[in-house]
Amino acid sequence: VTSPPTEPIGIALLGCGVVGSGVVRILAEQRELLRRRTGLTFDVRHVVVRDVKKHAEHAGILPLSTDAQAAIDDKRVWIVLELMGGTDVTGELIERALRLGKPVVTANKSLLAEKGTQLFSLARQHETCIAFEASCGGGIPIIHALSTGLLANRIDALVGIVNGTSNVILTRMTRSGWGYEQALDEAKQLGFAEADPTLDVSGRDAAQKLAILASLAFNVQVAEADIHVEGIELVDAVDITFARELGYVVKLLAIAERRDADRLSLRVHPTLIHADDVLSDVAGSFNAISVWGHALGHALFYGRGAGQMPTASAVVSDLIGVALGTTPLAFKRLKIFPDTTAPADVLPFEQLETRSYLRLTARDVPGVLAEIAEALGRNGISLSAVLQHEVDRGQHVPVVITTHLAREGSMRQALREIDALTTVRPPTVCLRIMDQPKEFGVS
Ligand code: NDP
Ligand code: HSE
Repeated sequence: VTSPPTEPIGIALLGCGVVGSGVVRILAEQRELLRRRTGLTFDVRHVVVRDVKKHAEHAGILPLSTDAQAAIDDKRVWIVLELMGGTDVTGELIERALRLGKPVVTANKSLLAEKGTQLFSLARQHETCIAFEASCGGGIPIIHALSTGLLANRIDALVGIVNGTSNVILTRMTRSGWGYEQALDEAKQLGFAEADPTLDVSGRDAAQKLAILASLAFNVQVAEADIHVEGIELVDAVDITFARELGYVVKLLAIAERRDADRLSLRVHPTLIHADDVLSDVAGSFNAISVWGHALGHALFYGRGAGQMPTASAVVSDLIGVALGTTPLAFKRLKIFPDTTAPADVLPFEQLETRSYLRLTARDVPGVLAEIAEALGRNGISLSAVLQHEVDRGQHVPVVITTHLAREGSMRQALREIDALTTVRPPTVCLRIMDQPKEFGVS
């Protein structure tokens, strides 16, 4: 395990954007508090950016450079904080640090979802460690919870709102009636969105976080490709309104749960949850992760899941954990990290049983509802509710149907049959409904 550092602890900070500048701020403003609490002092030896000219306000104050390799190799640097983002160049830099036996703190869920297993293994080989609290849930200490506080539990399910950007957008659409594009612009301005915001709205960012969280919670290797992913790009304001009429709120959920014979169902999709579900009140950039442990029951981890200072809070807490030696010890001893576990046994999405919300655009002519119900019935799908507002005869009208539990594969077949009807204008919108309390035995 990484030997205890000598004081002050030399840091190479790779990246000084939204999160990196927050880390600089905490280390400067809370220097005395951190020293008093932990007995540690930190010295930022290098701040690596792409373009020094963009950082005029830090010129002469921070040791800015563009040479990441030199910063990592510097003998005065004991630990590397990676807050650059990206996977290829960044992956090589992290490998370089690990090969030198230097611990790495990272917020980079894309990299961990893609190469986590190899990087953890490399860290172990070189008797050092990786800390990654900031990669999931921003400032929420969910990684610490899963790797320490919840260790006594067999985890049965983990359900989270883990993408701040999507939650900002859905919250605006729900509470202020904004359109999707306007709400996305706001999320970008607030600094929550990734450099490429399609990662956020497509559900990929949430899937990458789910891969990390599920691997720790269930002690298995989870690849992003194991996860069924749908984003929020196609959620229409009209679906949010209909959902509300039926008593639901639409959220982008990341779900990992034990299903048939201990297989794992892993999915990210817009989901209708009951208006009285605790997750329905999680608004804006807040994240929340519900965890069901066999001994603890339901626990909720809630907090700011993105943004400068919340994420920096997690990075600095990792820095302290590594410098104190608690994180390296846990990394060495616990067999919960993906390089020490086996690949997950994943339940294919088509085999999952779930409830659905359907919005069809149908012509208001005699027999149309019967045809739709027949297509669903043929595929073993039972209706739970049907909703249609009054319309002039013969016009196209939205028809909303909610179903009881049915296999996803059967639903897809039913949708193909429904969309082939001459009275229906495709495509029919299909969102999943989640009855968390019933499904997980929590009242
Ligand atoms: P930013 O784009 O704001 O900052 C990235 C920083 O890295 C910039 O300073 C940039 O330099 C520098 N950088 C990028 N590429 C290189 C390179 N090849 N060489 C040298 N420097 C480089 O990103 P964020 O701070 O938002 O995100 C950083 C990481 O944290 C990402 O992995 C992200 O997913 C993760 N994260 C972000 C959260 C957020 O709320 N923003 C929350 C949780 C995790 P320059 O300034 O010159 O452009
Ligand atoms: N883009 C991410 C989000 C940042 O919106 O949640 C936090 O990981």
